[in-house]
Amino acid sequence: MFSIIACIGKNRELGNQGGLVFHIKEDMQFFKETTMGHPVIMGDRTFASLPHALPGRTNYVLTRHPEHLPEGVIPVSDIEAFIKEHSDEEVFVIGGGFVYNEFLPYADNLYLTEVDAEAEADTFFPEFDKSKYEKTIIKKGQSDDLTYSFAKYTKLN
Ligand SMILES: NC(=O)c1ccc[n+]([C@@H]2O[C@H](COP(=O)([O-])OP(=O)(O)OC[C@H]3O[C@@H](n4cnc5c(N)ncnc54)[C@H](OP(=O)(O)O)[C@@H]3O)[C@@H](O)[C@H]2O)c1
Repeated sequence: MFSIIACIGKNRELGNQGGLVFHIKEDMQFFKETTMGHPVIMGDRTFASLPHALPGRTNYVLTRHPEHLPEGVIPVSDIEAFIKEHSDEEVFVIGGGFVYNEFLPYADNLYLTEVDAEAEADTFFPEFDKSKYEKTIIKKGQSDDLTYSFAKYTKLN
């Protein structure tokens, strides 16, 4: 089972020049609490943006060039095979744009931190049909001049 987790702006902004567009401490904490103990899969560009592999979680990285990955990080090159092999446990899809797009059709849950702001971006979360999901607001937050909602979209059967 796949769950997507992302922080997005009003226009689904995700990233800019290899980094995040929003830096919200409460969102980082929510990400950590939600994904801890679960396997995570990310793209090679997202992995490159991290200081190190995420502790307490098996790190899978989608790449066609696995040679450079540090020991302990598991390369994935065949998305379909990975999806078939991981239908029993909850795997968190943690970005970026390419990987969200590939996994969106297979994700039962989308945890989206929806920031009520626009930002300069070169990477965007894919458009999706909200009528096919039930939306729950987990909580709302504010930090500095940003307001945001932690939303969970659950796919309807
Ligand atoms: N706001 C958020 O919540 C959030 C979360 C995560 C990331 N981000 C941001 O998103 C941006 C990165 O996203 P992105 O879309 O550029 O990259 P990405 O999804 O992180 O990674 C894409 C990588 O997938 C690999 N790939 C592509 N096609 C493949 C295939 N057919 N088979 C195997 N691997 C394949 C390539 O790696 P190789 O070139 O090594 O093959 C490619 O670099 C950054 O700015 C990051 O900060 C934002």
